[in-house]
Amino acid sequence: MAEVDLSRRQFLNTAINAVGAVMTAIIAVPIAGYFMDPVLRQASGAAGTWVKLASLSELGDSPKKFTISAEKVEGFMKQKVAADVYAFKDGDKNVAMSNTCQHLGCPVAFSDSDGKFHCPCHGGVYDKQGTNVGGPPPRPLSRYETKIEGSDLMIMLT
Ligand code: FES
Repeated sequence: MAEVDLSRRQFLNTAINAVGAVMTAIIAVPIAGYFMDPVLRQASGAAGTWVKLASLSELGDSPKKFTISAEKVEGFMKQKVAADVYAFKDGDKNVAMSNTCQHLGCPVAFSDSDGKFHCPCHGGVYDKQGTNVGGPPPRPLSRYETKIEGSDLMIMLT
């Protein structure tokens, strides 16, 4: 068996470096965890903020406009969000969708007279489900993920 010739000085240098590395790790790992936490939460799918849109008793068969004002958390950023959202009961489901036209972003409005959403900017038309049925919009209105909490309809801001 070969013996390693280790001087006292080399031994102390190695020991001091090892202790320094351990102390650095003890300090650095929690700090890295603190800064990575929002990113890791977002990557795990926990991103987004649930906000109350309306009480279930306020929903009917016809889309009704609700205005939300909430704080959306995305990674390290907190952002105030205000939006108009249309919601209605569709059988045993609840539908919530954005009022932002998918053409160039004008606010659409629901008309009870013909049961359709109309965009005032370029004549875009969507049916009650938000499907684009006329004019230039290239796709349906965006829908929000929904859930019921107690007697409230919640939507996910992403
Ligand atoms: S912005 Fe709605 S049709 Fe153009």
